[in-house]
Amino acid sequence: MTRAASAESMRDYYARRASYYERVYFKPERQADLRAMEAWLPRPFTDRDVLEIACGTGWWTPHGACRAASWLATDLNPQTLALARAKPLPGCVRFVELDAYTLEGLDGQRFSGAFAGCWWSHVPLARLAAWIEALHARLGGGARVVFLDNSFVLASSTPLSRRDAEGNTYQQRTLDDGSVHEVLKNFPTRDEAIMLLGPRARDVEWIDHEHYWILSYLLS
Ligand SMILES: C[S@@+](CC[C@H](N)C(=O)[O-])C[C@H]1O[C@@H](n2cnc3c(N)ncnc32)[C@H](O)[C@@H]1O
Repeated sequence: MTRAASAESMRDYYARRASYYERVYFKPERQADLRAMEAWLPRPFTDRDVLEIACGTGWWTPHGACRAASWLATDLNPQTLALARAKPLPGCVRFVELDAYTLEGLDGQRFSGAFAGCWWSHVPLARLAAWIEALHARLGGGARVVFLDNSFVLASSTPLSRRDAEGNTYQQRTLDDGSVHEVLKNFPTRDEAIMLLGPRARDVEWIDHEHYWILSYLLS
């Protein structure tokens, strides 16, 4: 039976997939992009106090954090966090369970950087602007923000199964136990993504790789 997409089903889907989630990072056709992005990630966060949203198993964490002053990696799922915690990581990395939508539990902490890998694509279009604004509220002036996500590539991506009335697209994904899950997965164009950043975004840079995109900017 297919479970329809919702914020809760997305959390459960990634909890069930956690132990083999990183297989997606071993697709042969994505290796060149991955090495290029891993090499690119340290510089924007050098000496910054960074909040990572939805870190998952922490694939990007060691790369983003290696020159950071501090790095708080967060995710809603204890299952993915446990795998991330078990990795060899720079000493500046800390973890906390956090819902990306509420950001409750950060108390008064403010950050000079923010990073989210493969999270944007899972946020319903109707929630994106508010989510970005809530994230910005945790960041000081001059903060660096980096979003990184998948581009749709016909020969490599899971096909899209439907588009809803608001324009969100979906995929049907099968886990190793045979269960089938409908997952919301959007593939924004450069202009669609930049339009959502709001008035505080400056020095916006969009980098296209074959299988991924990166959106990087400063906050005024
Ligand atoms: C596509 S994975 C991305 C993981 C990692 N950033 C990466 O790029 O490999 C999405 C992650 O979002 C997490 N997640 C789902 N709902 C969440 C929520 N409401 N708040 C925070 N994390 C959530 C899942 O546990 C999963 O680890």
